[in-house]
Amino acid sequence: MADSATPAATTVLLLNGPNLNLLGTRDPGQYGTETLADIERRVRSLGAELGVAVECAQSNHEGELVEHVHRAREMDGIVLNPGAFAHYSIALRDAIDAVDTPCVEVHISNVYAREPFRHTSVTAPVAAGYIAGCGPFGYELALRAVLSRIEERRTARG
Ligand code: DQA
Repeated sequence: MADSATPAATTVLLLNGPNLNLLGTRDPGQYGTETLADIERRVRSLGAELGVAVECAQSNHEGELVEHVHRAREMDGIVLNPGAFAHYSIALRDAIDAVDTPCVEVHISNVYAREPFRHTSVTAPVAAGYIAGCGPFGYELALRAVLSRIEERRTARG
């Protein structure tokens, strides 16, 4: 049980936005054939190796994603694939900015090799890191990146 001598366990929210529930069958040329459940398993299992609890959520609705980000105020970090909302959701951008929880943004595909409208991310400027084009492996990189941000903050706060 956690007490003042035992730091609480680290918890990271793995949050996926619209259409990412269709991974596995959606445009495999861009996103591969792993399902969202496969990716969540992969990230949870890396978390278990690193001693970190990973909570997973996905929504196709902007407001629900905003609420998940608010909920992450009680957590240590966020790994977020905002899907298309990265390109235009000011509400999601403001939510990330409003919470004091580091958020690493991840995109499975290389958005910069795709249509020009995918080259802009309104959420990236308020993210603690940004990973794109590494396929599903990018989620593992993002988990490691957010953990390093969490560690930096803990060190800075003493
Ligand atoms: C994506 C890239 C977005 O442009 C797209 O709308 C998605 C998936 C990716 O993971 O590569 O839904 O976020």
